Amino acid sequence: MRNLEIFNESKEYMPGGVNSPVRAFKDVNVNPPVIKKGEGAYIFDEDNNKYIDFVGAWGPMILGHCDKDVVNAIKNTCDSAIAFGAPTDIELKLAKHICTTLDNVDMIRMVNSGTEATMSAVKLARGVTGRNKIVKFAGCYHGHFEGFLVSAGSGVLTEGIPGCAGVPEESIKNTLIANYNDCESIREVFQKYGEDIAAVIIEPVSGNMGVVPAEKEFLEELDRLCKANGSLLIFDEVMTGFRVAYKGAQSLYGIKPDITTFAKIMGGGLPCGAYGGRKEVMEYLSPIGPVYQAGTMSGNPIVMAAGYAALTKLYNNTEIYTHIEKLGAKLQKGIEEAAKEKGLPIVVNRCGSMMTIFFTEKGRVTNYEEAKACDTKMYAAFFEHMLNNGIYMAPSQFEALFIGAKHTEEDIDKFIDAVKRF
Ligand SMILES: Cc1ncc(COP(=O)(O)O)c(C=O)c1O
Repeated sequence: MRNLEIFNESKEYMPGGVNSPVRAFKDVNVNPPVIKKGEGAYIFDEDNNKYIDFVGAWGPMILGHCDKDVVNAIKNTCDSAIAFGAPTDIELKLAKHICTTLDNVDMIRMVNSGTEATMSAVKLARGVTGRNKIVKFAGCYHGHFEGFLVSAGSGVLTEGIPGCAGVPEESIKNTLIANYNDCESIREVFQKYGEDIAAVIIEPVSGNMGVVPAEKEFLEELDRLCKANGSLLIFDEVMTGFRVAYKGAQSLYGIKPDITTFAKIMGGGLPCGAYGGRKEVMEYLSPIGPVYQAGTMSGNPIVMAAGYAALTKLYNNTEIYTHIEKLGAKLQKGIEEAAKEKGLPIVVNRCGSMMTIFFTEKGRVTNYEEAKACDTKMYAAFFEHMLNNGIYMAPSQFEALFIGAKHTEEDIDKFIDAVKRF
């Protein structure tokens, strides 16, 4: 029982035994396996159990664990470069690759996490517009920055209420909450605060209330309102970037955000983040402009090399996206058929290789309220059953499962068979 021994000892030295809360599996009341090895689509725990991994480090591992090109890039770099805190050719390579292959990014700033990317993007938008208020949507997660840790309250026009101890009222008084996929809600927010709104930040396909894709008309209305009111539109593509399509969710909807945030896949599995947009917006950043943002480790050469290897591989092998879409469709169909046969009330939301199985009688999940109404106890039982059958999924109803390049049809069949046995 090495898993349990290690996890129990970890609790003595790290709060909850983890370095990020969801890893403790509290929502599903199961002790988390302690992972020691990853290989392609599989991970192995300290008790030598093998799992088909549908978490993929919460998104980054789209190429599978320890992809040889990413590993070689890391090894080759760290022989001669670990950290300089100085300009490097490899950071230029990655920046240029991103700016020249994505549509709405002329310039980019590298940081070290998704949280850093979104909080910096908001500061930039405030600096550009000279306004303070930001709008976020109930159920969207943009990292642990204070201004984002606001509960939805009753939704429309709700001024922020702290959703986390240690967050002062002042930190969130400029955060407005609107309802996802609700045009009326966002119109009301703009009607009341339009001239004060620096930016609207949104996950164009949310993965943090479970997968809930935005409706096209909703994003179009949001884009229109931002333009009409001189507010910037920030697409948080930390999860969706390079995943739902190489060019992210914005390419699926045909919308051009002013700023886009990235992390996860763009670092090839190493700690990373970035935000980018139009040149005239990005040039507000120090040292050219007045918005100060900095980082000792930003643009770290090993991270840049891993990211460059991962992104160029994805860019040059478009069949990866065909493969994961095909497996995603197969998995969705298989789960829906199995649930129907068993009379299980579920809704499967999916966008390409991002998916969530919701346990609900309601027949749809399009926003936070509908997501929250799902049967989390049933999800917990389902999760435990799947884990015991060698399927490693997110330990919460409000997360996404991810399919990657190394998953096979056989892995998907095993998932569906396990659902049939639930
Ligand atoms: C959409 C989105 N934005 C931001 C973040 C925060 O990223 P990080 O955990 O790298 O700080 C996450 C993390 O899951 C995310 O899903």
